[in-house]
Amino acid sequence: MRISEYKKVTKCRICKSSRLYKFLDYGSMPLANKFLEKSEFSDEKFYPLTCLFCKDCYLVQLGQVVSPKILFEDYPYVPSGSGVLMNDFNNLALEVDKRLNLSASSFVVDIGSNDGSLLSIFKNLGVRVLGIDPAHNLAKVAKDHGIATEVGLFNTKMAREIHRKFGQADLVCATNVVAHVDDVFEFLEAVSILLAQDGLFVCEFPYILDLVIKNEFDTIYHEHLSYFSLGSWQRLIKEAGFEIIDAKRVQIHGGSLRITNRLKKAETKPARRTINYLLWLEKQHGLTESETFGYFSDRVLKLKDEFTRAIHEVKVRDKRIVGLGAAAKASIVTNFFGLGPEAIDYIADSTPFKIGKYTPGKHIPIYSEEKVFFDKPDYCLIFAWNFADEIMRKYRKLRRKGTKFIVPIPEVKII
Ligand code: TMP
Repeated sequence: MRISEYKKVTKCRICKSSRLYKFLDYGSMPLANKFLEKSEFSDEKFYPLTCLFCKDCYLVQLGQVVSPKILFEDYPYVPSGSGVLMNDFNNLALEVDKRLNLSASSFVVDIGSNDGSLLSIFKNLGVRVLGIDPAHNLAKVAKDHGIATEVGLFNTKMAREIHRKFGQADLVCATNVVAHVDDVFEFLEAVSILLAQDGLFVCEFPYILDLVIKNEFDTIYHEHLSYFSLGSWQRLIKEAGFEIIDAKRVQIHGGSLRITNRLKKAETKPARRTINYLLWLEKQHGLTESETFGYFSDRVLKLKDEFTRAIHEVKVRDKRIVGLGAAAKASIVTNFFGLGPEAIDYIADSTPFKIGKYTPGKHIPIYSEEKVFFDKPDYCLIFAWNFADEIMRKYRKLRRKGTKFIVPIPEVKII
């Protein structure tokens, strides 16, 4: 195993405090979305993965930063494969359309636009759109679908260029992006350069409250540098010259926050009741106390014991287990719990980029979903538990024929 280059975090990303409490250590882990060809096994890179809690501004963050160039330039994640995710995007688009009353002259920019899934909805609403994404492979897919896309990491330089070329944006979206950004202040400065004075900045990210309550330890990986609460986001966004005008919990990715922000104005609106309620809820759940994260870590280690015992019991009975959904989460579960092809025959996935490759670290082969129907395994382990309902619906025939389904979190469940 080769431990590769990374930056160690010694100060909080938001408040620069060095009072950081380390609460979870995964050891050395591969990059969760780096699915490999067989020929790449010997060059695979591993990095430490630890979690820190800032005792001053309460931001949960990783203890190491891997270069975004390594993480995102060739990226296998495609949202358009999931009906649940497209539904979330639809809701987001209709919600902001109602709020901003978008028209043909409106300009919508999506940062981390991936294959253009969210922008295709805005395009259908008749507005001008531009995507920004560092992944060449996905930008090409977006462009092939008629979504103009700038390839690169979003920063102040790019924001100025886009502003000069296309004008100010009425709406800037960033779903599942800000948690991936190291220099969050530069990122927000870039958003403010691009955003019209009355424009909105809508972002969505996995919510630390859901992560803690539901034991979602497998959503912690090198790509996700920050795990925001509304409280830590509020502190960040205020310092960056924005204000929150709405915050809402949404179901996607195991529970996320959708936050509508705008540039700070002279007259501040009174905070919406939902904002105060969520801040209160976060306190109630101890998100401002380091002990909460110590307990979380204990629960994760207990889950590891229960899960590996359950898999062992299935394997001693000589039963076949197939994984469903080669999500990044699958990489975390298999590596942290020590499960390789001896336990999981293969993982089935709907993403063309992943089929034919192997999972990071444990090198479990990835096949298309059709194979599962043909093989009729004894057990299907749902790694992509965030799409469990959608996946179970797809495989309901197998369930009727006796295949059992294992869901790893919040606790091991066999259906
Ligand atoms: P994610 O949790 O990182 O979004 O990854 C989910 C993975 O699950 C992704 O690789 C696509 C895959 N998937 C299927 O294989 N079948 C499905 O029906 C769905 C919804 C997702």
